[in-house]
Amino acid sequence: MSRRAVNPGRRASDGGLPTVASLLHHKSRSPSVLTMALLALGVIILIVYFNSGSGVTVTSREAVSRAEGSCTSEVIEALPYLKKAYGSAMQKVLHVGPDSCTVVSNLLKEGKEAWGVEPYDLDDADSSCKSLVRKGFVRLSDIKFSLPYRPDSFNLVVVSDALDYLTPRYLNKTLPDLARVSTDGLVIFTGNPGQQKAKVSELPKFGRPAKLRSNSWWTRYFIQTGLTENEGPLKKFEQAASKGNYEPDCQIFHLSS
Ligand SMILES: *[C@@H]1O[C@H](CO)[C@@H](O)[C@H](O)[C@H]1NC(C)=O
Repeated sequence: MSRRAVNPGRRASDGGLPTVASLLHHKSRSPSVLTMALLALGVIILIVYFNSGSGVTVTSREAVSRAEGSCTSEVIEALPYLKKAYGSAMQKVLHVGPDSCTVVSNLLKEGKEAWGVEPYDLDDADSSCKSLVRKGFVRLSDIKFSLPYRPDSFNLVVVSDALDYLTPRYLNKTLPDLARVSTDGLVIFTGNPGQQKAKVSELPKFGRPAKLRSNSWWTRYFIQTGLTENEGPLKKFEQAASKGNYEPDCQIFHLSS
């Protein structure tokens, strides 16, 4: 599955069709000719609306489905368990990765303080994302360079779909920098080897293909870099995840910062 739809047509069908299907399901309980006619008209309007391309409002739920198959959508699924694992240390969170707007708006809705760094581009940002950017919650920033935040600005830094695209040379600079801006920990979501990542057509954006490294590669790398496992939260996270029958598709690392 692709990380994120590049063409608006695909995005429209991702977001549009389930809505129509659920509408049909809901309405079918009281069928009448008028209802069916109105429904058909509604479907036509929806199709025209989504195919017109411009002015499409993507809600955060649609944005999630757009990101499905990525580790950023995994972050959203993992949020309840991260909250259990980190408790009050979830108060000030920085998310680093594509579709950061989605993660940030989810956290803000839950009363957390959240900021986001979008490492690639914000060209296809929807209106709610643009508003987050305007208000300064989400910013575009190349993670190959030092993050534009003071040391210890956040409790927790959560990274997804970002480190897979860095070579060890850049990882050596970026990882310590992520640790620099966080006080209570670093949560890293990376792809599993064998997992399908960005399509070839998306490569120019990321600069290079995702390097899906194994668990042992990362573990070795973290030790080499002097980062240690955040044992307490890791245990709590695993307990909560197994209780909730949550089996992540991505690798999730909990590091002390
Ligand atoms: C990254 O840092 C580690 C440990 O400091 C070092 O052993 C390794 O050679 C560095 N890698 C690169 C590509 O600079």
